[in-house]
Amino acid sequence: MKEITARLLAWYDRHARKLPWRGSADPYQIWVSEIMLQQTRTETVAGYYARFLEAFPTVQDLAAAEESAVLKQWEGLGYYARARNLQAGAKQVMTEFGGKVPSGVEDLLKIRGIGPYTAGAIASIAWNLPVPAVDGNVIRVISRLYAIGESLGEPGTRTRIETLAKELVPESRPGDYNQAVMDLGATVCVPGTPDCDRCPLEDLCRGRRTGAAAELPKIPGAKPPKEMLYDLILIYDGKRVLARKRTEKMLSGLWCFPLMKGWESAEARKAELRRRWGMEMKTFRAVGTAKHVFTHQVWQMTLYEGELREPAQAPEGYAWIDGEELETLAWPVAMKMALIPVRRRLSDGQ
Ligand code: ADE
Repeated sequence: MKEITARLLAWYDRHARKLPWRGSADPYQIWVSEIMLQQTRTETVAGYYARFLEAFPTVQDLAAAEESAVLKQWEGLGYYARARNLQAGAKQVMTEFGGKVPSGVEDLLKIRGIGPYTAGAIASIAWNLPVPAVDGNVIRVISRLYAIGESLGEPGTRTRIETLAKELVPESRPGDYNQAVMDLGATVCVPGTPDCDRCPLEDLCRGRRTGAAAELPKIPGAKPPKEMLYDLILIYDGKRVLARKRTEKMLSGLWCFPLMKGWESAEARKAELRRRWGMEMKTFRAVGTAKHVFTHQVWQMTLYEGELREPAQAPEGYAWIDGEELETLAWPVAMKMALIPVRRRLSDGQ
């Protein structure tokens, strides 16, 4: 075990990825980076991380911010509950921990949005405590290293991996060690076919020896995401467009254009707009399609564009948005395709 740890640290000293949070031992900064990294690629996070800290340099700043400002900084990163929980956590740090991010795993786990993985990452990277941070990378590396062929769906498999993970963490440089495993998992011991020739643990790896590495870990069948059919309707009143701040759990607090269930003809949608919202359209046509893949849903959208015959009040829950305001609101990536014609339309000079 000592040999594994020593080799990983030596490998990390030569091959560590240069990532913007790597120079920091500030627990707030590490916390922000780890939350961003939960479901997002490191390359994407790199840009957001610096801007987020510029907007909210301390826990106190984040706790005091408007939720809409936090979501705006998170715009495009997805999984927006992370941003809301991060802010709720910052408020908790202010009220329950005197404004200081705690160091112990037990206290960290009391904070909203911080689970065992994030608690381990903050405690080891920022506070130098010898605790593991078990994420998908760690599970993959350990499953292969010890040739663990039992499915992750079976009770006990995860516990076994966690026990090994705990034993591997060294007393000195635990944060570097944890990040070494993450980097190995991201660049060498990758999902699918691992690049064993470049691995510092090649001769110690049972999965390599038995030829099973590529098939590990055994992940039980994931459910395919549910396909949702929508018409996304861009309604213009001159240089304003109709939109709504979502209140549903999914994408809560983010803005979307009117989204109507099912795929219908232009005629049927026009009739519906008349019936539901008393809106008469001067023009109305399909302008394209867009698709967005979430974890549990895929949105297949037909985009319609229509222009009102005469100004109308925004329906309950909706608002008319002009070109300037459009840029101040937080839009999910699912609206990215729709925003292209909207921006063109609302910008000056057309
Ligand atoms: N993924 C999650 N946390 C990470 C970190 N600190 N470094 C690299 N990849 C990560």
